[in-house]
Amino acid sequence: MSDPLNSPEARRAGAILTIDLDALVSNWKTCADKAPTATTGAVVKAAAYGTDATKSAIALYKAGCTTFFVASIQEGIDLRAVLGNGPTIHIFNGLMDGAERDFSEHNLTPVLNSLGEIDAWGAYCTGLGKPLPCNIHVDTGMARLGLPNNELDKLSENPEHLSHMKLDMVLSHLVAGEQSDNPLNPQQLMHFQNIMTQFPTARGALANSSGIFLGPDYHFDVTRPGVALYGANPTPGQPNPMAQVVRLQGKILQVRTIDTPQTVGYGATHQAQGEERIATVSVGYADGYLRSLSSSGIAYIGEHKVPVVGRVSMDLIGLDVSKVPEELTRPGTLVDLIGPHNPVDEVADRAGTIGYEILTSLGTRYHRVYLGG
Ligand SMILES: Cc1ncc(COP(=O)(O)O)c(C=O)c1O
Repeated sequence: MSDPLNSPEARRAGAILTIDLDALVSNWKTCADKAPTATTGAVVKAAAYGTDATKSAIALYKAGCTTFFVASIQEGIDLRAVLGNGPTIHIFNGLMDGAERDFSEHNLTPVLNSLGEIDAWGAYCTGLGKPLPCNIHVDTGMARLGLPNNELDKLSENPEHLSHMKLDMVLSHLVAGEQSDNPLNPQQLMHFQNIMTQFPTARGALANSSGIFLGPDYHFDVTRPGVALYGANPTPGQPNPMAQVVRLQGKILQVRTIDTPQTVGYGATHQAQGEERIATVSVGYADGYLRSLSSSGIAYIGEHKVPVVGRVSMDLIGLDVSKVPEELTRPGTLVDLIGPHNPVDEVADRAGTIGYEILTSLGTRYHRVYLGG
């Protein structure tokens, strides 16, 4: 097999983004093993958290996943086109005005977020003379999407609202599932358990990635892991049970030795302390290497830790490679910006954000290499 890092595309690219589809599948299986009585779905919205919805969903589908969740109708349409009619595809953001036909034409299942959406879906199903599937989202504390308590009360007083459709799942979303000791978790759980008694024939779905690790009470019938599939830690503060999926390697363009009076990068925010060797690497904030990593990011050349110095610019960053042997810092050398020693969550911490943002910001200029799948 040809070396994917030695192709013309890889040689031209400023950075290589490697996505390990076998690790993705193994993470999905870890989630499934953790919740053996539930159906394990996969959340593949936002280009499967930056990894590529098509490639990731196909790998998961081949591994046995048949329940996919995305945010927008267009994401659902695109996914249906590549997966065919086998799996179910559920659209979190609900039924937008006038979009009913998109759902039925592309065999997508809406997550209905209000009584108004339920009635619109009911009217559409009545018009077609066909009870199409749907889910409903109930708000147990996020105050974002889903039926609030007063609408749930109306629904229980008049279950007729649901009579022309086929209710598949009842969903709710945890506010702080990644904080295992947060009292909101048991509160939401109890609220959801009560709500589910109102829908005895529907499947319940509460757990996101972290929810799966809160224990069996949270699993219900279907789980919806997202970020854990892509390697982020669903159990912060404890060892990461997930395999790393993403590796980002930037290329050194140039190395210069600078003297004490000189500064590095825009705004002159880094002042060399004595003689320093600075490697300029071809990744910047336009690629999703966040500007908040200015003078706080850490990269690795093999086992050598090299700090980002100065501001992240649009297409470039500077690394202090003074302590790395010169033969390891030649132009063309690949530097781990996300890698075995600096996984997604650690990069996120240094950027003052969360792994979700690092993943979904992964840029379009990288040469992408997909392993396995
Ligand atoms: C409704 C819903 N369910 C599940 C998920 C997946 O969450 P996570 O990525 O934390 O596993 C999301 C992600 O935002 C979501 O909005």
